[in-house]
Amino acid sequence: SQRNITVIPGDGIGPDIIEATLKVLDKAGCDFNYEFADAGLMALEKHGELLPQKTLDLIEKNRVTLKGPLTTPIGEGFTSINVTLRKKFNLYANVRPVLSLKGTQARYDDIDIITIRENTEGMYSGAGQRVIDDGDTAEAMSIITREGAERICTFAYELARKEGRKKVTAVHKANIMKSTSGLFLKVAREVGERYPDIQSEEMIVDATCMKLVMDPSQFDVIVTTNLFGDILSDLCAGLVGGLGMAPGANIGQNAAIFEAVHGSAPDIAGQNLANPTALLLGAIQMLEYLGMSDKADAIRTAVRDTIAAGEHVTRDLGGNAGTNEFTDAILARL
Ligand code: NAI
Ligand code: MG
Repeated sequence: SQRNITVIPGDGIGPDIIEATLKVLDKAGCDFNYEFADAGLMALEKHGELLPQKTLDLIEKNRVTLKGPLTTPIGEGFTSINVTLRKKFNLYANVRPVLSLKGTQARYDDIDIITIRENTEGMYSGAGQRVIDDGDTAEAMSIITREGAERICTFAYELARKEGRKKVTAVHKANIMKSTSGLFLKVAREVGERYPDIQSEEMIVDATCMKLVMDPSQFDVIVTTNLFGDILSDLCAGLVGGLGMAPGANIGQNAAIFEAVHGSAPDIAGQNLANPTALLLGAIQMLEYLGMSDKADAIRTAVRDTIAAGEHVTRDLGGNAGTNEFTDAILARL
């Protein structure tokens, strides 16, 4: 039977790149049934709320969601929709793969790294935030739990095993942040021992930044806490040519949301200018998650070859093709 996927077209270029991505998924022979849902500015205009209950219900029901970028209105007391979704569905793992593709601004041609960021704890838990002494002192609490650390490390090793990867690097700062990062590292070591088939490595976060810039080919899967993961995953995106090449998934026990890392690009919306690559890579992540690696490989190859050929690529990749022409070139290769 057909698998249901919740699809949120979103705002700005969202509908353009979602349309392109669904065409590619269909051409690759993925037999999905798409259920469309509204969120973001578009939902606010249509239903009076950014995240209608019907959308939440669909995300929960189908468990797998493909999402376009959403515009969060600023300065009107709205909280980020992405943060709301992460909290609501306890999407504890933020998974950000980067891959260097020929014909892009990638700084090296052999980058293939997945960063797995713990999404609920650490410096971003929001705990103990306060400003005292008339604003001259500020504090916040970092919380790491054994449960949270074990959950994310296990996730990383399971993903490494499933995708046939060789090494997991636990990134930390346990030499300075002895309690929090210390607990994370201790748990990472314990989890690593349960996966003798995968090489375990540990690395201090600042050294990791340097090594990523100097020789990213040595990295495979990186697992780390919230703040470090936020920074490292953007660093990795920069290595492969920026956010336009970077997909991301937010994964929990009962729901998973796959998307591009970039925003809704209102400046080029509806003009057939958007590059759908990041969302296509997000769809590839979704296929891997669903155990459909043959389809994932086929689409990855078609995207890679189209960009490498360079003839039908979008403006941001140095070409003069529109979203549609670029998408057609990918479809032709499938
Ligand atoms: P942005 O990523 O939307 O745009 C930055 C620049 O990159 C723009 O010049 C844009 O044209 C270009 N760009 C982005 N994606 C592109 C693509 N696929 N193809 C070609 N060019 C592309 O970031 P910005 O302008 O800061 O944010 C715009 C809106 O997006 C804001 O409302 C923000 O809240 C939202 N946003 C949503 C995210 C999400 O839903 N995951 C993530 C980041 C921002
Ligand atoms: Mg970030």
